Amino acid sequence: MDLSGLDPKRMPRHVACVMDGNGRWATRQGLPRTEGHRAGEEALLDAAKGAVEMGLEYLTVYAFSTENWRRPQDEVRFLLNVIADDLMTRRRNELHEMGVRIRFTGRRDWRVPKWILRRMDDAAELTRDNKGTTLTVAFNYGGRAEILDAVRGLLAEGVRGAKVDERALRRHMYQPDVPDPDLFVRTSGEYRISNFLLWEIAYSELVFMDVLWPDFRREHLLEAVLEYQSRERRFGRTGDVRDHDGLPG
Ligand code: IPE
Ligand code: IPE
Ligand code: MG
Repeated sequence: MDLSGLDPKRMPRHVACVMDGNGRWATRQGLPRTEGHRAGEEALLDAAKGAVEMGLEYLTVYAFSTENWRRPQDEVRFLLNVIADDLMTRRRNELHEMGVRIRFTGRRDWRVPKWILRRMDDAAELTRDNKGTTLTVAFNYGGRAEILDAVRGLLAEGVRGAKVDERALRRHMYQPDVPDPDLFVRTSGEYRISNFLLWEIAYSELVFMDVLWPDFRREHLLEAVLEYQSRERRFGRTGDVRDHDGLPG
């Protein structure tokens, strides 16, 4: 991969990715949708290699949403197997050797089979001290569920209403130590968020790509990062030297 066009001083710390288009990729080839998920797992591995090569700190990928349980049972079962067996078990050594730290984000509720939680915990445990890219797999993840869970956490702590601020809420989100995504990528030509990281993407740069996820390679990740580097981030300011911290002057 040719990294010469990248500005090392303007690297995103955290890239979030909605891996979409597996089903359409398979259907276009006359294959069952499940084959798209299998091919999507390969694509994820290549993207992870790209993240490591680029020196990305955090890559968070949307693997299964709180809404994806609505899919036909056999597709759900296949997806769980791809994530737990292929990614978490077969690939975990490869990812470990690459220095990747594997993590999970999402709701650990009754819908997630215990054996899946065990595989996820094992992969996280094996790789917890790695210093390379942190690959967070969002599984049974919903942005609204995460915000609700954070609110419940605050209430359980007995925090008074007047003490609830953004920092307090953030402490109860699933990954309080991870910076917000700088860059949000969605593949497959769909222009929506689909309940991914709603709170965290408040100021992310959004990049939508037409490529279907199984065709995604590290070069596409690079392309998205280059697009990110061409953007001007303002966070509400103008870019003028007279911008300030927003406190009354
Ligand atoms: C993304 O691909 C994988 C998951 C949502 C788990 P899809 O399965 O949504 O593929 P399309 O969008 O139907 O093509
Ligand atoms: C988002 O894709 C979820 C994942 C990629 C895991 P979907 O395919 O489920 O999203 P919608 O239904 O098109 O919005
Ligand atoms: Mg989809």
